Amino acid sequence: MVKVVVVYDRVRYEEKALQRAGERLGVTVSLVDVKDSFIDITKGDVNPEVLKGDVIIQRCVGHYRSLYLTAILESMGIPVINPFQTALICGDKLLTTIALRRAGIPTPKTYVAFTPTGALKALSELGYPAVFKPVVGSWGRLVALVRNEETAKIVIEHREHLYPLYQIYYIQEYVDKPGRDIRCFVVGDEVVAAIYRYAPPGEWRSNTALGGRAVKMDVNEEIEELSLKAAKAVGAHVLGVDALESKDGLLIHELNSVTEFRNAAPATGVDIAGKIVEYAVKLAKR
Ligand SMILES: Nc1ncnc2c1ncn2[C@@H]1O[C@H](COP(=O)(O)OP(=O)(O)O)[C@@H](O)[C@H]1O
Ligand SMILES: [Mg+2]
Repeated sequence: MVKVVVVYDRVRYEEKALQRAGERLGVTVSLVDVKDSFIDITKGDVNPEVLKGDVIIQRCVGHYRSLYLTAILESMGIPVINPFQTALICGDKLLTTIALRRAGIPTPKTYVAFTPTGALKALSELGYPAVFKPVVGSWGRLVALVRNEETAKIVIEHREHLYPLYQIYYIQEYVDKPGRDIRCFVVGDEVVAAIYRYAPPGEWRSNTALGGRAVKMDVNEEIEELSLKAAKAVGAHVLGVDALESKDGLLIHELNSVTEFRNAAPATGVDIAGKIVEYAVKLAKR
């Protein structure tokens, strides 16, 4: 029988849902907290013993923890959802934009600069309002809407005193969206669900972590095609695809390789956890 191992560093709804789905489907799903354990990476086989599974579902919240752990597990020959290369690209907005552009997937216009001067030059060409994003980050954290040069200079000054990664200036056109964005869920080669996320009052970002409200979206051809294309472009098994509705159609702005679905599952009535476990079993047998 296939053994699915879910690695995590914080138990959220999703990890519990995966375990419950395993019970329902008769699949062994074991949850392993990796926080206080250690791994011998010079040994060829899987260790410690608790990590021995036929397939791993990576659920760590910490980006670097998640990324390095995936590299280790993959090196020991276990398939991981998602692969290292997928996690590397999706965990970085700059690398994601490159991947989307190369795959011919529409994405918001984005400039990158490496100094305050470069950033201000980029802004004078891109125009205001513009959106500053840390290349690594989630939950809308430090994603800043900049309406004029004065605010841009403040954001830049703050960035200059942060860790060097924050001095990679990733600056994007502001897409005049209808107060919401889209999160679409891909499992394998299937789009299983999609939601609109409505930004809460007084907030321009619609992340559910910031109070964004999830409402079921009927999956149409456009979002389905773009999401599957995006998953293929980054080699994802399971992917959360974020899209913005622009006047020229959908623009994909982010890909999430460790996606949350605690709001999407009840809003859509889709057993997303069950679909992921079923897929994991198929992957283990491949
Ligand atoms: N270019 C943009 N134009 C308009 N709104 C945006 C833009 N980029 C992001 N947003 C809003 O900000 C939210 C957070 O941005 P996102 O790129 O998804 O970063 P995070 O990884 O923190 O979720 C999005 O869900 C969306 O509501
Ligand atoms: Mg997002």
